[in-house]
Amino acid sequence: MPVNLKGRHLLTLKDFTPEEIRYMLDLAHELKTKKRLGIRNKMLEGKNIVLLFDKTSTRTRCAFEVAAFDEGAQVTFLSNSQMGKKESLEDTAKVLGRFYDGIEYRGFKQEVVELLAKHAGVPVWNGLTDMYHPTQILADFMTIEEHVHKPINKVKLVYVGDARNNMGNSLMIGAAKMGMTFVGIAPKSLFPDPALVAEMQEVAKETGASISFSEDIAAVESADAIYTDVWVSMGEEAQFEERIRLLTPYRVTMDMMKMTHNDNVIFLHCLPSFHDLETSVGRDIYEKFGITEMEVTDEVFRSKYSKVFDEAENRMHTIKAVMVATIGR
Ligand code: CP
Ligand code: NVA
Repeated sequence: MPVNLKGRHLLTLKDFTPEEIRYMLDLAHELKTKKRLGIRNKMLEGKNIVLLFDKTSTRTRCAFEVAAFDEGAQVTFLSNSQMGKKESLEDTAKVLGRFYDGIEYRGFKQEVVELLAKHAGVPVWNGLTDMYHPTQILADFMTIEEHVHKPINKVKLVYVGDARNNMGNSLMIGAAKMGMTFVGIAPKSLFPDPALVAEMQEVAKETGASISFSEDIAAVESADAIYTDVWVSMGEEAQFEERIRLLTPYRVTMDMMKMTHNDNVIFLHCLPSFHDLETSVGRDIYEKFGITEMEVTDEVFRSKYSKVFDEAENRMHTIKAVMVATIGR
């Protein structure tokens, strides 16, 4: 059956079949090639898009804007709306749905993006919530397809760090859907919600995926990709001390990369990353805790294994694919 995603929301990849995810990835690869060749089909001409941000962003905002501009859409960036303060989510969604053809939302609770989707009457795209970051996963898998020369269902993806954050959850979901081998390595207290794991184990039975968790970093053995994320996500800043204590043994180091026994292993990170002291937060952490790097060493971040800037670029191509697939001509 041909895939048709017109009018669909993207709130979590749980809502998508493997074929639908495959379709978005194929479209992203095609749109990247076209952009390199200078081919613009203006697939979003005449469309208006609003980007609602309750948390900070570099990549996601810019990816939506450049993708929209490339395809001929107009964009409004909104970070100081009445929403939730002087106007309910429902009323805001109804208003924005009258103006716009698509709504991106980044914020805290997953319920907010779900409520917007319920009431807007136009596609709503999740640009990150505390629970999920689905557009990031598309970019991650696109990058894996560019650099790991195997079909995606043969790839072993290892996520090391805070395995219960939006990235840990979303990578597990994506991997389950795409039939991959997914290993989450974390201290037990940072394993994901068992209910979500059980749900993904059911998906894995259908797709041939393998989903497992370990506290032991030796589980990186034969990984094709090692992925990590910040130890403290946006909104959890009170947790730094506890997370540094829990996650220091899980920092991605060159020794860990070597433990894969795979010289073609790649390193991925959604970014931003604390790999040096070139940030004010990084310097504050150094003053308080005496560490110069957090989730990944500067050495790994800058190494031949690291594909993080291809991954960042792919945010734009994949977000473009999502918009073209759901509201494009
Ligand atoms: N990876 C990611 O979502 O980056 P931003 O926070 O810069 O949007
Ligand atoms: N887990 C991180 C991802 C940032 C892209 C956060 O939510 O802050």
